[in-house]
Amino acid sequence: MDRKRVTVPQLMEWKKSQRKISALTAYDYTFARLLDESGIDVILVGDSAGMVAMGYENTLPVTMDEMMFHTRGVRRGVQSALLVGDMPFMSYHVSEADTIQNAGRFIQEGGAEAVKMEGGSRILDKVHAVVQAGISVMGHVGLTPQSVHQFGGYRVQGKNYLDARQIKKDALDLQKAGIFALVLEGMPMELAAEITDELEIPTIGIGAGSQCDGQILVTQDMLGMNLDFAPKFVKKYSEVGEAIRSAVQNYTDEVRSGAFPDEAHSYHLKKEKLRSIGNNSR
Ligand code: KIV
Repeated sequence: MDRKRVTVPQLMEWKKSQRKISALTAYDYTFARLLDESGIDVILVGDSAGMVAMGYENTLPVTMDEMMFHTRGVRRGVQSALLVGDMPFMSYHVSEADTIQNAGRFIQEGGAEAVKMEGGSRILDKVHAVVQAGISVMGHVGLTPQSVHQFGGYRVQGKNYLDARQIKKDALDLQKAGIFALVLEGMPMELAAEITDELEIPTIGIGAGSQCDGQILVTQDMLGMNLDFAPKFVKKYSEVGEAIRSAVQNYTDEVRSGAFPDEAHSYHLKKEKLRSIGNNSR
């Protein structure tokens, strides 16, 4: 199917026309192609790559070089979706110059069209600097996984008045700093609805209820591939993990029994060639 490329202004238009935005994560070419061909609007190369693709305990060890590796692979598989690269921990926390340089790597080396940065008031100056450098920034507030140690675990944020007020203020300040969209993660749906209502830019929720302008999930979670992770907000649209296990068990059984490869999956030499091989070997 031929689709037009999804752009940053397009997402803003969709907010106005109340057309919901679908987003998923990808970390490699094969998945990126499948998602893109299925009509997804936004593909995020999330730093969740650290857990999903690399098996780290959290996203904190992920480096810029690792994100470049994943982003380049995803880029080759994406024709239409808007491609957003997730800036990893410590890639936008030190100086403005380093922040701009790292954001620029996502665009130049990775081929992304935008970057995502986690946090509110503490990173406003960095967000502003990247936007001023001409790079589109997606914000991310609420349960921001790079702050897992400060939160004391992956806990829903904004459950009391002061926290909720701070998250809302962060959202408004980020909009002022120039972000084009905002991920709202792990917060009561009432708070996400209020923020979505007040912002002119689209919100993309994950564990933030149905009133956001769009939704994002980690692809492997919604496909049922992450067998030890089942939080309330993840809906499983498939049981791909079970399908893979069963296919691999079948394959192993058939290899061991000699049932694979059978005739249908083997090549033959033409009869004349068979004869000449026979002659040569004598
Ligand atoms: O890293 C990630 O995958 C994310 C999304 C799930 C929002 O930040």
